[in-house]
Amino acid sequence: MDPQQTTTPELSELLEGRQRILVTGGAGFIGGAVVRRLLRESTATVFNVDKMSYASDLSSIEGVLKEAGQASEDRHHLLKVDLTDAEALAAAVRQADPDLVMHLAAESHVDRSIEGPGDFIASNVTGTFHLLQAIRGHWDRLSDERKKQFRLHHISTDEVFGSLGDVGRFSETTPYDPRSPYSASKAASDHLVSAWHHTYGLPVVLTNCSNNYGPWQFPEKLIPVVILKAVAGEPIPLYGDGANVRDWLYVEDHVDALLLAATKGGLGHSYCIGGYGERTNKQVVEAICHLLDKLIPSKSAHSSLITPVTDRPGHDRRYAIDPTKISEELGWTSSHSFEKGLKSTVKWFLKNHSWCKKVRERANYQGSRLGIAGHGLLQAQNS
Ligand code: NAD
Ligand code: DAU
Repeated sequence: MDPQQTTTPELSELLEGRQRILVTGGAGFIGGAVVRRLLRESTATVFNVDKMSYASDLSSIEGVLKEAGQASEDRHHLLKVDLTDAEALAAAVRQADPDLVMHLAAESHVDRSIEGPGDFIASNVTGTFHLLQAIRGHWDRLSDERKKQFRLHHISTDEVFGSLGDVGRFSETTPYDPRSPYSASKAASDHLVSAWHHTYGLPVVLTNCSNNYGPWQFPEKLIPVVILKAVAGEPIPLYGDGANVRDWLYVEDHVDALLLAATKGGLGHSYCIGGYGERTNKQVVEAICHLLDKLIPSKSAHSSLITPVTDRPGHDRRYAIDPTKISEELGWTSSHSFEKGLKSTVKWFLKNHSWCKKVRERANYQGSRLGIAGHGLLQAQNS
């Protein structure tokens, strides 16, 4: 099966008649995958609330709309709103009048959070607070019947749990211990969502997922950075000793889990999502280089470009997820091995080099190193 075409069985059935879906951050990497799935496999109308930041792009969604023909165009509405603008957000929520909200909008790159933590507090903490308030108002106004169906799904990260040693895995009962400005802002947003459930009775579900990879990921995260650097014959930056471990999940597997949790997850519950894809960064980088040696052979092995660089400040050593709860309660398992997902991702980036060039230029980002401590301190003093 083409990894981009993974199907969640009976998506329309899962949605149980929910036809108006508000997705925040739907112009980003994972939000875009959620929106594409909803457009392809349901009849729901999607209200995509996104501020259209450096990390946003609508090409993939436009492609799906084109595939599906004219009639589908009314099923996707971009509402260009910054969650930090409470009034604009409340108006967008009134316009969307949603049956389901999937909240993915966030500043998402750890290295950028080291350079400029303020944007992370604004978008991830204040933005989530504004969304909760707007949705509370919306929920209060719903008819009893729609109220019963309504849910807010908050999409979060395993980074809120901190850093693991050599053994053990994160689960729903792991205490929070965030250690970067990004993960602290996501932890704060998780706590706000949980508080709005306990205090105001808002029907919420939370998920905490491990590292995603796949097509359309903005080329600042490890896997696309390595592919683009290797193709350009530039040094491939490996932070520290390269032995930090991440638990990699193909983005379409994450979407499967999100749609199940959003519709079937227990209210007030959280679910950890991961597919037993632990690899050291060195293993990931070498695997990409080996694939490139086969796909675009060059005089010397691509691995000769791997260059150890200064470590990320506060670099979490290891992440790993125990997905027992989501697998036993909701029947989710990942369906892409890392090898299979990585191969198709590398091929996708090779084929879509012009997209990478376009989004990098628009973001005024050419792959330079972000988030080095000294630079971050300087920025903090100046802001
Ligand atoms: P991304 O950076 O690719 O996309 C985020 C989107 O959110 C962008 O389109 C951006 O414009 C939008 N956004 C940010 N701040 C906003 C604001 N104030 N108002 C409106 N829109 C705003 O991120 P992603 O990798 O797709 O991650 C999506 C979500 O999933 C995030 O909440 C992230 O914390 C979470 N997550 C990501 C991963 C991962 O590996 N990428 C893993 C687990 C969880
Ligand atoms: O665990 C989930 C999180 O995964 C998400 O919540 C974040 O939004 C997402 O960005 C990701 O965070 P990481 O910091 O783990 O991802 P990143 O791709 O930035 O880095 C992965 C690992 O690779 C990390 O240990 C740092 C290292 N790295 C990263 C880059 C960009 C390098 O060695 N070289 C690099 O150039």
